[in-house]
Amino acid sequence: MRASRSSIGPIAHAPSTRAIAYRGMTAPSQYNTMDQVTEPTALPFDYNDVVFRHGTEAHGLDYSILRDEYRDVHPMVADRFAAAGTSPILDMGCGPTTLGALLDERGASWVGLDAAIRRLRRGAGPRVLGAATRSPFRDETFGGVAALYMLYHFPDPFVPISEAFRVLRPGGLFAACAPSRFDEPELAPFLPPQPPETFDAETAPGLLSRLFDVAGVDSWDMFLYRLPDRQAAWNYLVSRGATPDVAEAAARAVDYPLWLTKRGSVVWGRKAAG
Ligand SMILES: C[S@@+](CC[C@H](N)C(=O)[O-])C[C@H]1O[C@@H](n2cnc3c(N)ncnc32)[C@H](O)[C@@H]1O
Repeated sequence: MRASRSSIGPIAHAPSTRAIAYRGMTAPSQYNTMDQVTEPTALPFDYNDVVFRHGTEAHGLDYSILRDEYRDVHPMVADRFAAAGTSPILDMGCGPTTLGALLDERGASWVGLDAAIRRLRRGAGPRVLGAATRSPFRDETFGGVAALYMLYHFPDPFVPISEAFRVLRPGGLFAACAPSRFDEPELAPFLPPQPPETFDAETAPGLLSRLFDVAGVDSWDMFLYRLPDRQAAWNYLVSRGATPDVAEAAARAVDYPLWLTKRGSVVWGRKAAG
């Protein structure tokens, strides 16, 4: 297994201290930690809900301090697929086809696959409704497969990872990404105890290496979101699972702007050639 580490995009100017004043709140006392579940748990599939996650589509990105073209991993992933010349590319769990639009700009052919009709309707381009556990494609169809921010929805993410392996040609490239289990440490005092997810930046290299040669790990660990005021903090905390009451108390207790540290990785896998 070969792995390299690098950073994604430029680190925009960020404050030099991580100290947050939790005025009048002592953490982590807001929830009953006796209820804590430690078994890895799949995130719920809520993408066909009429009101998707409290009505906000990309609440986090609204607060990103990076320039538009660096807002998330998609441009970097599209660049690497295009540079490798590994088309066509299957985007598993493509959602509203963010990656597909960037692949179009780079002249790489692709097809999206998603299990949520509401998400597919928000996208454009070639896309198929279906499950990533049993895709409708023949063996060795694709030169690249992406699974961005989606493997944590599976009780056993090795099932869609195996499906990616099956549809990839020998020598093909697989990209999977997820946040770290240590993402957004500043919010931990205010969120209910969360079990680890079934797929995260910590488990990704090991899981991929069961089938692939790990061909790189692009990680980020930086102040990335800036919550400007109380309303922004309340919205964000509720979208992350805080109760409205705790969000209200927390939003009153912190100083603004509130900076959030984002952590995660894109892990690249290569299917052995022949
Ligand atoms: C957080 S979104 C990520 C969307 C996109 N990959 C991106 O990075 O913008 C997760 C996506 O995975 C899709 N998804 C979840 N479970 C799936 C499954 N079993 N088969 C196919 N798609 C699935 C959801 O519908 C959703 O669009």
